[in-house]
Amino acid sequence: MVELTLPKNSKMIEGKTWPKPVGASRLREYKIYRWSPDDDSNPRIDTYFVDLDDCGPMILDGLIYIKNKIDPTLTFRRSCREGICGSCAMNIDGTNTLACTKGMDEVGDGVIRIYPLPHMPVVKDLVPDLTNFYAQHRSIEPWLKTTTPAPQTEWRQSHADREKLDGLYECILCACCSTSCPSYWWNGDRYLGPAALLQAYRWLIDSRDEATGERLDNLEDPFRLYRCHTIMNCAKACPKGLNPAKAIAEIKMMMVERRV
Ligand code: SF4
Ligand code: SF4
Ligand code: FES
Repeated sequence: MVELTLPKNSKMIEGKTWPKPVGASRLREYKIYRWSPDDDSNPRIDTYFVDLDDCGPMILDGLIYIKNKIDPTLTFRRSCREGICGSCAMNIDGTNTLACTKGMDEVGDGVIRIYPLPHMPVVKDLVPDLTNFYAQHRSIEPWLKTTTPAPQTEWRQSHADREKLDGLYECILCACCSTSCPSYWWNGDRYLGPAALLQAYRWLIDSRDEATGERLDNLEDPFRLYRCHTIMNCAKACPKGLNPAKAIAEIKMMMVERRV
């Protein structure tokens, strides 16, 4: 029988346990994935202790505490600290989510384990390479496409048509959904994934857009759209409560309807 093993340099090793903050009485343990392209060693898990009396309550507060007070080499993305920019998406306690909106207390009392978003190349530590993800978003042409001359003031839209965009426009492109989708894990180079497809649907049903046929043509492909098998991980993962699986099902319906 063939024995399959992981390549030597892909095995995770136990990393450094950093000293506990002096004088702290309430501590929280973080175990964090570390990897750098610069030091030619395997990924490792470092252990840190956060002083809860000197730190905010969210997972991201703990990461910032670690970076500022213990280990400045720890690398992660963050910007808004309020669930708007999508940059602090990571895998926390086995779930893809935003570090800034997840409280430490939501992980229970135990160790807080943090990894980068799964199945993406890693730039460093908790920073995934989202180049392909953004290129896929660009490929659905996320802007208004029209052929009629632009109006003097604005493209008008009824309240009812505007409401159709609810549950879609709120997407912050954090990639939590796409990186929790098994189909995207295996075919991420050709399957657009839930985030890009939710955006595709957002433009398909915008009453002001005049490129619906062209947009559907762009998705008519065995991989770009049809690799969704309605597993629903995406809807479970979305920290904004959106439902990409439903949007994908609606696109498939539009494909069927235009054939009849
Ligand atoms: S429903 Fe589709 S897009 Fe969502 S996780 Fe499942 S396969 Fe992926
Ligand atoms: S649909 Fe949700 S999980 Fe997916 S990118 Fe948008 S906000 Fe993030
Ligand atoms: S820092 Fe912006 S979403 Fe978390």
